[in-house]
Amino acid sequence: MKTIDTQDSQISGKSYTLKDWQGGYESLNQECDYWIDDIEGEIPPELTGTLFRNGPGLLDINGQRLHHPFDGDGMISRITFTNSRAHFRNRFVKTEGYLAEQKAGKILYRGVFGTQKPGGWLANIFDFKIKHIANTNIIYWGGKLLALWEAAEPYLLNPHTLETLGNEYFNDVLSKKEAFSAHPRIDPNGTLVNFAIKPGPSTTISIFELNIKGEITSKQNHSVSGFCFIHDFVITENYCIFFQNPVSFNPLAFALGISSAAQCIKVQKNQPTKIIIIPRTGKTQTEQVKVLETQAGFIFHHVNAFEMENEIIIDSICYESLTDVEPNSDYRETDFESNSPGQIWRFNLNLSENKVQNQLIDNRACEFPTIHPNNVGKAYRYVYAAAAHHATVNAPLQAIFKLDFKSGKKQLWSAAPRGFVGEPIFVPKVNSQQEDDGWLIAVVYDAENHRSDVVILDAVNLEKGAIAKLHLKHHIPYGLHGSFTPEIFI
Ligand code: CO
Repeated sequence: MKTIDTQDSQISGKSYTLKDWQGGYESLNQECDYWIDDIEGEIPPELTGTLFRNGPGLLDINGQRLHHPFDGDGMISRITFTNSRAHFRNRFVKTEGYLAEQKAGKILYRGVFGTQKPGGWLANIFDFKIKHIANTNIIYWGGKLLALWEAAEPYLLNPHTLETLGNEYFNDVLSKKEAFSAHPRIDPNGTLVNFAIKPGPSTTISIFELNIKGEITSKQNHSVSGFCFIHDFVITENYCIFFQNPVSFNPLAFALGISSAAQCIKVQKNQPTKIIIIPRTGKTQTEQVKVLETQAGFIFHHVNAFEMENEIIIDSICYESLTDVEPNSDYRETDFESNSPGQIWRFNLNLSENKVQNQLIDNRACEFPTIHPNNVGKAYRYVYAAAAHHATVNAPLQAIFKLDFKSGKKQLWSAAPRGFVGEPIFVPKVNSQQEDDGWLIAVVYDAENHRSDVVILDAVNLEKGAIAKLHLKHHIPYGLHGSFTPEIFI
């Protein structure tokens, strides 16, 4: 691994090989516990706390391959930092589906993203029993460690042991199988805001606010016309904002067992994106829900949003088009160069004129943005994201990118050619004064050694190289989301 200059556009050819990238899509079957003793550099003594990560741990069930990694059973990795040392533990979320399939030694459920039970359409026809895989995010909030998956209720885990304790219903405010998204936003005032999508010909968006004790203090429901695919949202002081991507949903092929639910979603390129602006509970009660339209591509993740005079400003990772999840395609053969990249866009919503302006901020392909937690919903200066190595070519995520909105300055730390980067998390230093005074922590798959590293970077200066690389004894399959808490769990 080496640090490269972002100005260096002399690099030609690919920054990776597909075979190296594919290595990160092998299952990790074992559950481990150990102090990490193979460390390059030094873990900063002030870095104390626990990083939780979630993602698909299994890409096959007893050798039967899943059609899409998003169908993989959730596995929690926990890295605890204390006294310049780090401890690793991983455990699968022991969902009903995980336990049943491990016992049976075969695929028993249809996955949302295309995994079918063996036996073709006859085995899958009218089977709407989808497995809750709890694989998308993990948060520690109000003394509860919660594994999140957007289509159902959270799983509650013991933060000390990672043992699965059951489902969490927040004193019965959630009902059985009620959704609770994988993308909560934490208002720096100490409120966790989350949402849920209940699909149908018209969609219900629920918004939950949770206090610091982990109790749901408010829930509001809104009906939205049409089918919604909404994975993430943003908050400001007064609003929750949702982007309704232009997609259609034809459930017939799903019902007949021919396609998965995700394969029935088609992007409608000629349709506008609807931006749904909902006042937050207790803020501007008299205000109505507002819907604005814009031409935008497809969005999974937003960076942040904030209010400025009569505008709301939203930064998002936007794809011009989206490759469909095809029934017979192999995700491991992804042709990155022909897919459109996710890029940082800024949307300016003028609330008095009901107008939207949008602007591409940077060409680089990136995903999994992170910011200083104190700036959620507020004006901010720095964004960090996992990114492609090359500034203009779409490719797997191999680097960590920093963008300064104020100066336009960019920095890059790259793990290319043989490293592949997951979501970075920004961890502020205690008593930090500057917005970027902290660390970026990411899990990086090292194809050369078929293992993963936990990499710690100085967020002020990415280009000086990693402060520490913690070599794990094994790989972690490419993950999705995670979070950091200053509390120490071992
Ligand atoms: Co996500």
